[in-house]
Amino acid sequence: MWHQLGAALLLTVPSVYGASDTSNPLDQGNTTAPWPNSVYSNATDTNNSVVAAGSKSNQTSPPWYPSPWAEGLGDWEAAYAKARSIVSQMTLLEKVNLTTGVGWELERCVGQNGAVPRLGIPSMCMQDSPVGVRDTDYNSVFPMGVNVAATWDRGLAYARGQGMGYEHKHKGSNVQLGPVTGPLGRAPEGGRNWEGFAPDPVLSGALFAQSIAGIQSQNVIACGKHFIGYEQEHFRSSGDGFLYTVNQSYSANLDDVTMHELYLWPWMDGVRAGMGSVMCSYNQINNSYACQNSYVLNKLLKAELGFQGFVMSDWSAQMSGVASALAGLDMTMPGDIAFDSATSYWGSNLTVAVLNGTVPQWRVDDMAVRIMAAWYYVGAETNYIPINFDSWTLDTYGYEHYYANEGYGIINEHVDVRNNHGALIREIGAASAVLLKNDGALPLTGKEKFTGVFGSDAGANAYGPNGCSDRGCDMGTLGCAWGSGTANFPYLITPGFAIENEIYNQGVGVFQGVYDDYAYSEAESVAGQSSVAIVFANSDSGEGYISVDGNIGDRNNLTLWHDADTLIQTVSAQCNNTIVVIHSVGPVLMDSFVNNPNVTAIVWAGVPGEESGNSIVDVLYGKVNFGGKLPFTVGYSRENYGTDILYKPNCGESAPQLDFTEGQFIDYRAFDKGGVTPLYEFGFGMSYTTFSYSDINIVKHDAGKYAPTTGETSPAPNLGQVSNDTSDYTFPNNLTRIPYYIYPYLNSTSLKSSADEPDYGVAGSIPAGSQNGSAQPLLPSSGAPGGNPMLWDVLYTVTATITNTGKITGDEVAQLYVGLGGPNDVVRQLRGFERLSILPGQSATFTVDLTRRDLSNWDTVSQDWFISDYDKTVYVGASSRNLPLNDTISGASAFNRFA
Ligand SMILES: *[C@@H]1O[C@H](CO)[C@@H](O)[C@H](O)[C@H]1NC(C)=O
Ligand SMILES: *[C@@H]1O[C@H](CO)[C@@H](O)[C@H](O)[C@H]1NC(C)=O
Ligand SMILES: *[C@@H]1O[C@H](CO)[C@@H](O)[C@H](O)[C@H]1NC(C)=O
Ligand SMILES: *[C@@H]1O[C@H](CO)[C@@H](O)[C@H](O)[C@H]1NC(C)=O
Ligand SMILES: *[C@@H]1O[C@H](CO)[C@@H](O)[C@H](O)[C@H]1NC(C)=O
Ligand SMILES: *[C@@H]1O[C@H](CO)[C@@H](O)[C@H](O)[C@H]1NC(C)=O
Ligand SMILES: *[C@@H]1O[C@H](CO)[C@@H](O)[C@H](O)[C@H]1NC(C)=O
Ligand SMILES: *[C@@H]1O[C@H](CO)[C@@H](O)[C@H](O)[C@H]1NC(C)=O
Repeated sequence: MWHQLGAALLLTVPSVYGASDTSNPLDQGNTTAPWPNSVYSNATDTNNSVVAAGSKSNQTSPPWYPSPWAEGLGDWEAAYAKARSIVSQMTLLEKVNLTTGVGWELERCVGQNGAVPRLGIPSMCMQDSPVGVRDTDYNSVFPMGVNVAATWDRGLAYARGQGMGYEHKHKGSNVQLGPVTGPLGRAPEGGRNWEGFAPDPVLSGALFAQSIAGIQSQNVIACGKHFIGYEQEHFRSSGDGFLYTVNQSYSANLDDVTMHELYLWPWMDGVRAGMGSVMCSYNQINNSYACQNSYVLNKLLKAELGFQGFVMSDWSAQMSGVASALAGLDMTMPGDIAFDSATSYWGSNLTVAVLNGTVPQWRVDDMAVRIMAAWYYVGAETNYIPINFDSWTLDTYGYEHYYANEGYGIINEHVDVRNNHGALIREIGAASAVLLKNDGALPLTGKEKFTGVFGSDAGANAYGPNGCSDRGCDMGTLGCAWGSGTANFPYLITPGFAIENEIYNQGVGVFQGVYDDYAYSEAESVAGQSSVAIVFANSDSGEGYISVDGNIGDRNNLTLWHDADTLIQTVSAQCNNTIVVIHSVGPVLMDSFVNNPNVTAIVWAGVPGEESGNSIVDVLYGKVNFGGKLPFTVGYSRENYGTDILYKPNCGESAPQLDFTEGQFIDYRAFDKGGVTPLYEFGFGMSYTTFSYSDINIVKHDAGKYAPTTGETSPAPNLGQVSNDTSDYTFPNNLTRIPYYIYPYLNSTSLKSSADEPDYGVAGSIPAGSQNGSAQPLLPSSGAPGGNPMLWDVLYTVTATITNTGKITGDEVAQLYVGLGGPNDVVRQLRGFERLSILPGQSATFTVDLTRRDLSNWDTVSQDWFISDYDKTVYVGASSRNLPLNDTISGASAFNRFA
C-alpha cells in the first residue's frame, strides 16, 4: 500500500481535521499559551535576565490571524503588479483552480494545479526533486545537498541550482520541489538530512539561498522544503506503516529562541533570495500541523519574514479546508484528500467556503496572487515549455490522465536535458570530498604495482543503477540516497570502474576488485598482494515510506553498513597501505579503524551523484586537490551528539512528542557546550598543501542604530467581483469530466449540499481575527523579504590573511565563528566562510562582513533581534576547533535601539 512513487507520501489520511485539539476543528490554538521561551536563552532584554519555560511535551501553538496578504515587497513589485492585474480578471472558480491540485496521478507531473484556460494560464508542473528531475529519463543526478555543503562553495551551489533549474525547465517542470533546509539535521540519524545541507544555519542558509537563485535564474520556481521542525521520518505521518500506529504526526516542540536563532534562520536567507514557494511539512509544531499552523505560516513566514510567494502543502499534509486556508496555506497538493479519493479539502469546498463567507474573498485572492506572482517573478510566462515527460511511466505512449486511463497518446518525448552537466557534477563531487587522514598514502600516482579495491560500495548494483525504486536499497556504490528526493541515473560511474580505468590508462600496474563485502578470504588474498588497498564503505538513509534493512528512513545507527568495519579490518590486516573511502549521508563512527596504522588515509566522499567514480579518482590521484570540509561533526559515539531520533511513540497513540530540549545545541554546538571532544570536528578537512592564518583585523562601520519596523499594512484588497449566483459555479456543459479529477465547481446550486466540508458553518469555530481584512500592524522584525532589512547592515568587517605554505595550489575554506558572549549562548557559531583558491607561496585575504543579524540574539519579549551587552569574540581559522586567530568586539550593543 506504500506507494513507491510520489513527492512524499502518506499511507493513512488522518482524521478530518488533525488539529492539535480535535474538539477545535479550526485549530485555533491555545489563546492563553505563549510561544515558549528557551530554557537556555533566558533573553528578554540586553541583560539576558529572565528564566523561560522552554520546549516541553504537549506545548501548544498560539493562534495568529489574519493571514498576511502579500504586497509586493522588495523586488517583487513588478511581479505583483502583473499578478494583481491578472487575478483581478479571474472568476472565483479560476482562482480556486490555481490553489488546488487536480489529484494524484491525474496529470503528468507529481503535482499539478488547475489551469485558467480563458486567460492562457497553463496548469503548473510541480516536480521533485532537490537533486534533479525525478521520475524521468535523460536527466542528471546531481550531488546531494550534503555534498554541496561539504564544498562550502557558494558558486558551486549556484551552478548546481542553475543546472537543475535548466533540466526542470526543459522537461516542462515549472516548480522544482527543492532545495531543502528542513530537516536541518537535529539528529545525525535523520533520514532526509542529506537532502538539506548542514546542521548549521549559516552554512545552510547561504547554500539554500544560492540554490534558489540558481534554480530561479532558469525561470523555474524553487520550492523550499520542508517548513518547519521536520527533523525525523519516524511518525511524520499518522500511519507509520511499519512498527507502530499513532493517530497523529509527531509534534516538534520548540521554543521561540531556538526557532529564530537556529531553524528559521536559513529560511530568512531563502526568502531574501526570492524563493517563490515553500512546502509546509507533515509534522506538527507545538501540537499544530505545519500546514494549518497559523503561528508558523501567518506570523513567522509571512508577517515576519515577509514571504511573497506561495505555501504549498507536502503531499497529503493538508489536514483541513477552512482552517488551513485561514492559517496561511495557499496551494494544496496533490489536491485530493486521500490519493484518488475524488474529494478535496479545497476545490469545490473552497469555492463554497468563499461564497459562504467563511473564507474571505481577499484570502483566496491572496492565494491566487501569490501563485501568479511567483510565476511572473521568475519569468515563467515568457519562457514556457510544455511538459514533455510523464512521472508515472517511462513508456513513450500512455495515458495523459494516468490514474483515470484517459487521454492516450505520446506522453514521454525522452528529451535529453543534461546539457553536459556531468562535468559540473564531477567537479562538485571532487570539491566535496573531505580528506580526514593522510599518512602520506595520498595522492596516488596510478603507477602503483598492484591496486586492490574492496567493498560493494566500489561496485555496481546488480539490478542496475535504477534497479531499486526511488533508490530504496543499498546495493552497489551509494551515488544517491533514497526517497522522493532522488532522480533516475543516466549512468553511474562506480569507483571501481573509474579506478580500474585510471590504472589501465597509466599502463603500469594491475588492478583487482573484490566487490562482495563478505568475501573475506578472497579479500585477504587480494589485499595481501596489494601495494595499495582501497576499501569503499557506506551508510545510507532516506524517506520514511521506504524501509531499507529495517531503517525506516532514519538510520538505526551510525555505524557503516554491510559489516564494513570487518572488511576494513580484514583488508588492513593484510595490507599496510589501506585507504578507506566512505560514502555516507552523514557522520559515521570510525573508531574501529581510525587509529589503525595500516589505515594510511581516510576520505569522506558523501553521496556524490552520477559521476561518483570520476570525482573520487580526481582527488585520490591528485588531479584535483582536496578542499572539502566536513559539514557536520564526527563523534566517537552517537551519545556524543546529545540528540537522537524518537523511535518509539511516547504518547500512546496520540501525537509523539519530540521535545527539542537541547535548544540550539545540536551538532558542534552540543559538542562545544558539553566539552565533548569530537573525532573530526565540524569544518575539518585536509589538503595536499598546507595553510597558515595571520593578521586578523576588524573594522567598525558607521551603521547606525537599529530601527524596528513600525506602521501598518494596507487593507486587504479584493480583486474583482465574486458572483453570488450559485448557478455560475456548476460544472460547465462543455467540459468533459475526468474521473477522480478535482475541480473547483459546485455539485449543485445549493451551497449546503455541494461540498460537505463538515468544519464549515460550525458556529463559533472561526478563529478570532481570521476574517479581518483591515490594515494590520507591522512586526518590528519585518519589513522586506527575509525580515527587517537593517538586519543585513554591515556593522564590522573582519579580514585575515591565509597563506598557502605548501608546494601546490589548493583551496582553503576559511571560517569565522562568533561567540555572542551570554551565559546561555552558543560557545562559538559559524558566521562567515569562504573557499579561497591560493597558489603556493601566495596569500589571500579572507573577508567577512558581520551584519547586525550575525551579532544578534532573539528577544522573546520585544519579538525582535537585539545585540546583548556581552563582548563578542571573533575567531578565524580552518575548522570549528582549529581557530588560531581571535579578537574581541566590545560595545556592539551601541548599535541597538536600546542603547
Ligand atoms: C493553554 O495554555 C496554558 C498555558 O500554557 C495552559 O495552562 C492551559 O492548560 C492550556 N489550555 C489548553 C486547553 O490546552
Ligand atoms: C536564567 O537566568 C536566571 C537569572 O539570571 C538564572 O537563575 C537561571 O539559572 C537561568 N537559566 C538558565 C537555564 O540558565
Ligand atoms: C501529553 O498529552 C497526552 C495525551 O493527552 C498525555 O497522555 C500525556 O500525559 C501528556 N504529557 C505530558 C508530559 O503532559
Ligand atoms: C480548472 O482546471 C482544469 C484543469 O486544468 C480545467 O480543465 C478547467 O477548465 C479549469 N476551470 C476553470 C474555471 O478555469
Ligand atoms: C469537502 O471536504 C470534506 C472534508 O472536510 C470532505 O469530506 C468532502 O468530501 C469534501 N467535498 C468535496 C466535494 O470534495
Ligand atoms: C547498523 O545498521 C546497518 C544497516 O541496517 C546494519 O547493517 C548494521 O549491522 C547496524 N549496526 C549495528 C551495530 O547494529
Ligand atoms: C608495508 O609492507 C611492505 C610489504 O610487506 C613492506 O615492504 C613495507 O616496509 C611496509 N611498510 C611499512 C610502513 O610498514
Ligand atoms: C454557510 O452555509 C451554511 C450552509 O448553508 C450555513 O449553515 C452557515 O451558517 C453559513 N455560514 C455563514 C458564515 O454564512
